[in-house]
Amino acid sequence: MSDKMTSKSVAEAQIVELRSKINYHMHRYHVLDNPEIEDYEYDALLKQLNELEAKYPELITAQSPTQRVGAPPAAGFQKVTHFTPMRSLGNVFSGAELVAFHQRVQSGLETTADIEYVVEHKIDGLAINIVYEHGTLVRAATRGDGATGEDVTANIKTIKSIPLELKANKFGIPTFLEVRGEVYMPHKEFIRLNEEREEMDEQLFANPRNAAAGSLRQLDPKEAAKRSLDALLYGIGAHEGVALTTHSETLEFLQALGFKVNTLYKKFTDVDAAVEYCASWADKRHELPFAIDGMVLKVNHLADQEMLGSTAKDPRWAIAYKFPPEQTTTVVENISISIGRTGVLTPTADLTPVLLSGSTISRATLHNEDYINEKDIRIGDTVVIHKAGEIIPEVISVLLEKRTGQEIPFVMPHTCPECGSTAKRIETEAAYRCSNPSCPALIREGVIHFVSRDAMNVDGLGPAVVTSLLEAKLIQTVADLYRLTKEELLTLERMAEKSVNNLLASIETSKNAGLARVLFGLGIRFVGIKAATTLAKHFGSMDALKICTVETLLELDDIGDKIAQSIIIYFAQTENLALIDALQQVGVKLTQDKPEILHEQIFAGMTFVLTGTLPTMSRKQAADIIEAFGGKVAGSVSKKTTYVLAGEEAGSKLEKAEKLGVTVLDEDQFKTMVP
Ligand code: IVH
Repeated sequence: MSDKMTSKSVAEAQIVELRSKINYHMHRYHVLDNPEIEDYEYDALLKQLNELEAKYPELITAQSPTQRVGAPPAAGFQKVTHFTPMRSLGNVFSGAELVAFHQRVQSGLETTADIEYVVEHKIDGLAINIVYEHGTLVRAATRGDGATGEDVTANIKTIKSIPLELKANKFGIPTFLEVRGEVYMPHKEFIRLNEEREEMDEQLFANPRNAAAGSLRQLDPKEAAKRSLDALLYGIGAHEGVALTTHSETLEFLQALGFKVNTLYKKFTDVDAAVEYCASWADKRHELPFAIDGMVLKVNHLADQEMLGSTAKDPRWAIAYKFPPEQTTTVVENISISIGRTGVLTPTADLTPVLLSGSTISRATLHNEDYINEKDIRIGDTVVIHKAGEIIPEVISVLLEKRTGQEIPFVMPHTCPECGSTAKRIETEAAYRCSNPSCPALIREGVIHFVSRDAMNVDGLGPAVVTSLLEAKLIQTVADLYRLTKEELLTLERMAEKSVNNLLASIETSKNAGLARVLFGLGIRFVGIKAATTLAKHFGSMDALKICTVETLLELDDIGDKIAQSIIIYFAQTENLALIDALQQVGVKLTQDKPEILHEQIFAGMTFVLTGTLPTMSRKQAADIIEAFGGKVAGSVSKKTTYVLAGEEAGSKLEKAEKLGVTVLDEDQFKTMVP
């Protein structure tokens, strides 16, 4: 056996072991919520695997943990026929109807005896069907019309709690298995995503379900991977090589295979107790990290399920108990205007306080003038409110029958309520904006944003203190924060020595927050945390960024036309440049430390040749990455070439590489090599 062969087989064994270790820890983290190792240790394992796979690309398999984010499906989402149809559920809305369902089950089974049921949460997401052959994930599809769905395999693979290979377990690995469950967006992720969309002036998702649907239908799995979707599995479809007798055993089986299962299910033989359990979750639903819209009652014994069968649409052995919609009525006492950081005037309804979904609501967003006009919302109206996606209260409709004639129609002010300047409606938007760039509200909101958690993260500088500082003229711009003295701060109301000391220390620390946070904090339109981080990483310093061009910006990930234009406009304004100078003078660091990873010269001693058009990167970007990681880029292929990175229409260089036996990589393989 040659040396090369030996080292390859050693690498193969290492790869197998690393994959199994990584899968084990991924399961502990994403499914069991109980990690055993630190994140950095996990990252190190993944990096080791990436490196080995980069050396031996022929050993990469579609199920490797490095392959969760793959290429977009070339021709969009293909239609897939499920092996067994995916049925939906009949609905009931009351305990009495649930008891009636139970009686139908009894008569279907020709018995008067108790029936064993399993009660589960009805997760408000999207039904999914995942096919495993010999333990390997081969396809995943949406429910579609129940018979045929869309192939969303690439996006489903980005969900880390879904195993790409089934776990060995006491039930055995089925030769064929359709696994069914619900893909959803956890509340936390939903809030994060909507905050990010707000920053980008993009339309907000109304609820986690829509957000999950939108994410699953992203054509680019890279985009889908950015939205942390999750999945809970609750059933199986077609299967071979496994024998189960009850639904609860199916849930155990799914858990043993490595899936995330909602373990809050309960077994009941007393239908009244089951009804009580279902009803009890209506008020407790907000304690869960995901949205539910009801409960599901399922006959536990599979033989009974089979005997009961299904109608064309729904099974006769299961039923959904839907919760009443979470909405209530209250009165609009006033409509007030708040001004955001970008000067947009947002109308808000001040409501008679009312309890909704476990919290007291006294304000609800009215979004903009068009929204108010469409729904004809007037001061004094009795309105129906709900929580959009269980989080942001919103007025959904007016109860016209409650009108007394005393209600006052709302007129959007054409002047800024804060500074009196004209507020103009922007033609392409529904928003009114204050035309005064030095509007006190704008400045205040700007400072509040600058010191906020995701920006400079200054503790002890809430909106009230910021307002006092501005009113006392102790600050005019954010740079002035760094010139504040103890004596000045002590003059403010409610500021004692201890809080002043803490505040000054926190302001001092924030000087080293780094370029990404400063950039985000400046509030450049459309520049969210992600874009700010990309800019800081790429340019390394404010000086370099200040003189960038649209073209260089557009080459970066996460930077589109809108952001690029906005950055150029920002740096063309002298007052912005003056602010940056002032920040520099007071000692705010305007550079970004290169991430440590860049010092790891993983391509040291390697020579790359680039040819053809890569699908997402420019050749310049690829070359920059290679060089940043210690590699060289050469113009022609020789025996010394380590890798040829080839895209579309690669010509003679590719032929030469093949002739000389030089390993050829595509962009995806290349990306997996880079930590
Ligand atoms: S059982 C034949 N169990 O609700 C069995 N469905 O309204 C059908 N859903 O399409 C599904 N949580 O997307 C089942 N614990 C649960 C569920 C659940 C959510 C969804 C599923 C289904 C829809 C029917």
